[in-house]
Amino acid sequence: MSTPAVDPATTAAWGRLAELASAYEPDLRSTLTPDWVAQQSLTAADLHVDLSKNLFDTDVEAALLALADEVDVTGRRDTMLAGSHVNVTEDRAVLHTALRLPSDASLEVDGEDVVADVHEVLERVYAFADRVRSGEWTGVTGKRIETVVNIGIGGSDLGPVMAYEALEPYRQDGLSCRFISNIDPTDAAQKLSGIDPETTLFIVSSKTFGTLETLTNARLCKAWLLDRLPAGTDADAAVAQHFVAVSTALDKVADFGIDTDNAFGFWDWVGGRYSLDSAIGLSLVVAIGPERFAEMLSGFHAMDEHFRTAPPAANVPLRMGLLNVWYVNFLGAHTHAVLPYSQLLHRFPAYLQQLTMESNGKGVRFDGEAVDYDTGEVFWGEPGTNGQHAFYQLIHQGTRLVPADFIAFARPAYALSDGDTDVHELFLANFFAQTKALAFGKTAEEVRAEGVAEDLVSARTFPGNRPTTSIMAPALTPSVLGQLVALYEHITFVEGAVWGIDSFDQWGVELGKQLAQELGPAVSGDAGVLARQDPSTRALIGYYQENRG
Ligand code: F6P
Repeated sequence: MSTPAVDPATTAAWGRLAELASAYEPDLRSTLTPDWVAQQSLTAADLHVDLSKNLFDTDVEAALLALADEVDVTGRRDTMLAGSHVNVTEDRAVLHTALRLPSDASLEVDGEDVVADVHEVLERVYAFADRVRSGEWTGVTGKRIETVVNIGIGGSDLGPVMAYEALEPYRQDGLSCRFISNIDPTDAAQKLSGIDPETTLFIVSSKTFGTLETLTNARLCKAWLLDRLPAGTDADAAVAQHFVAVSTALDKVADFGIDTDNAFGFWDWVGGRYSLDSAIGLSLVVAIGPERFAEMLSGFHAMDEHFRTAPPAANVPLRMGLLNVWYVNFLGAHTHAVLPYSQLLHRFPAYLQQLTMESNGKGVRFDGEAVDYDTGEVFWGEPGTNGQHAFYQLIHQGTRLVPADFIAFARPAYALSDGDTDVHELFLANFFAQTKALAFGKTAEEVRAEGVAEDLVSARTFPGNRPTTSIMAPALTPSVLGQLVALYEHITFVEGAVWGIDSFDQWGVELGKQLAQELGPAVSGDAGVLARQDPSTRALIGYYQENRG
């Protein structure tokens, strides 16, 4: 904490951006020229990223790049990549990028060659996944595993489930995964419904192995398993064959009763929301196989290399992160929509919510000083075209500025026709149409020219100048998924670096956890603990007690 963070609001570039914002009048209809589109269409690995429909000009671009320079974003990037303890409030290195370094790379951190450690665990993960996939690893009654249940929450759930859904076409037949995260017992009840305990493998995924939800669900699943296996089955043997764990706390894994031979470790320099590439991805490796998982890792690495080496003006995560800063701090945006035109990415916005909001929802800089500018955005979204029929109205005609990322793939996962039409082409036509409608809108004159009655003209006018970024790739392969996730990891990093915050801690989730532990007895009827609560909490618990039946 000793190095003071730069207050970005004191830089010359920040002042220049404020000046530019006050005079800025977007007019995409005139500024979106072929030259501008060519200039603002960037490539990062397999991703084609069109920034041209954003609200900025060359002066804004130059000032944003100057801001990045003044706060030394690239210096901070290099410091992170080298393994310095940039997570200052937890005194930890931040090295999710090391999880996808090739095996011949080397990186020494705190006296350890982390690349060797990473690949040693990866090999164990791959070997275990192969045993499950081939049927060599069986349940205690000798039956082949058909269902893998990942028990985890936050980063120990959202990444694996998002990628499992995204890579559905790559899954092995006859093997499926389910994900239990919520401590609401409904989640476990629903996910355990209809599966056969003899063919089910549980993966308890928890970085700390101390998370209430995960440990409760793990105990619940253990009881469910032992209750349902054939009478006389040895309990220890059953747990050994049906439970494995992923954690940085292998001692706690052993305390839980899981053999540490069946546990896969990772390191404190992997943040929970950055852990998909670690052993936390075990359920995904079982589903898609080591080869595809390795392709995903190389996609991540390709984006890391782009972020590390591309010059600032062509550096996609840098440019996108800086545009987000422009929208948040100078144009007043509070939210950011992510709209994948891919049903397979239906959990991608939920995944990004943890990545971006747990990282950048901070009110103090990394040296502890309070910020006096906004940080973070509310990330949200749904796959197109469902969103079009739900919330796009507000983006098109509402009073709020909602920058939106549109994501689409040239080749469909499933090529289907309704007899006459290639449905993927129709889907893509919607993708192209939406970004066009948002950019150019429809003027009152254009509405009138369609013969609309005068009293309806204003309601049917579209203001346009709604900013979008279009991200396209040839297809949603494992590598492209890795590139996309790494892109957003680095966008998040860039924003956090500009704001001078620690994007890698998450102290904001602790208070609620602590209070839940304290309130537990009151909920279960301890009158003394109940009496010590505030009047609202006391009344709510009272309501529960009267109505619990
Ligand atoms: O509550 C926040 C958090 O710490 C996340 O950062 C993390 O991904 C999640 O909980 C789960 O933690 P763990 O993997 O240690 O169970």
